[in-house]
Amino acid sequence: AKQRFSVVTLFPEMFERFITQGVIGRAVKKGLIEVALYNPRDYTHDKHRTVDDRPYGGGPGMLMMIQPLADAIADAKKASAKNVQVVYLTPQGRKLDFEGVQNLSQFTDLVLIAGRYEGIDERLIESLVDQEWSIGDYVLSGGELPAMVLMDAVSRLIPEVLGHNQSAVDDSFTNGLLECPHYTRPENYLGKRVPAVLLSGDHEKIRQWRQIESVKRTQRKRPDLLKKLALTEEQQAILAD
Ligand code: ADE
Repeated sequence: AKQRFSVVTLFPEMFERFITQGVIGRAVKKGLIEVALYNPRDYTHDKHRTVDDRPYGGGPGMLMMIQPLADAIADAKKASAKNVQVVYLTPQGRKLDFEGVQNLSQFTDLVLIAGRYEGIDERLIESLVDQEWSIGDYVLSGGELPAMVLMDAVSRLIPEVLGHNQSAVDDSFTNGLLECPHYTRPENYLGKRVPAVLLSGDHEKIRQWRQIESVKRTQRKRPDLLKKLALTEEQQAILAD
């Protein structure tokens, strides 16, 4: 199913490499993902193409000017399917995780608002925004990087975006576990050898080894993940070991 992202941003050029390179670039080229960029600056009517405005009550910093932003969002929504959500990227949003990404992927259209300056007028959030998402507890200079993070993670859930060589079923979090360690040539690198089982050609033994390593390293690095997981008997046996 085709996923469309409409991004409202003052810096559309930040997205150009992102949507032409690598896995995402390929998906765009194949028509699996569509990205439309809406720049509030194109919706201004004054000679200086003003996109910022002063906050009531004073203080440092500017906000995004309401009219160009609201008009850009309205245009993005007009071009969207019925099954659309307007998402504002903000440190005040719910922290994005795999479950949130899966949820967002259910919408054929996502309108992503990337804020700049001190943010956007509260009334726009109340009237136009359906969901607020954060990518972590730190403050970035704008919502563009968070929007790209969201787009990347959602796109990877579209089956055809990852070839079957790099299928999402092996990704960390798809099965709730961290990935097993990976090795490539040479067999001996600075005296450190590739685990012998990976050279054995015994595919069932390799599967078991990877499973064990995944469970053990999740326990070691991210015990919080294991707590919410319903482990299979095979996995429980590994942890008891
Ligand atoms: N905008 C600025 N910082 C952000 C963050 N951490 N997550 C989402 N949007 C943001």
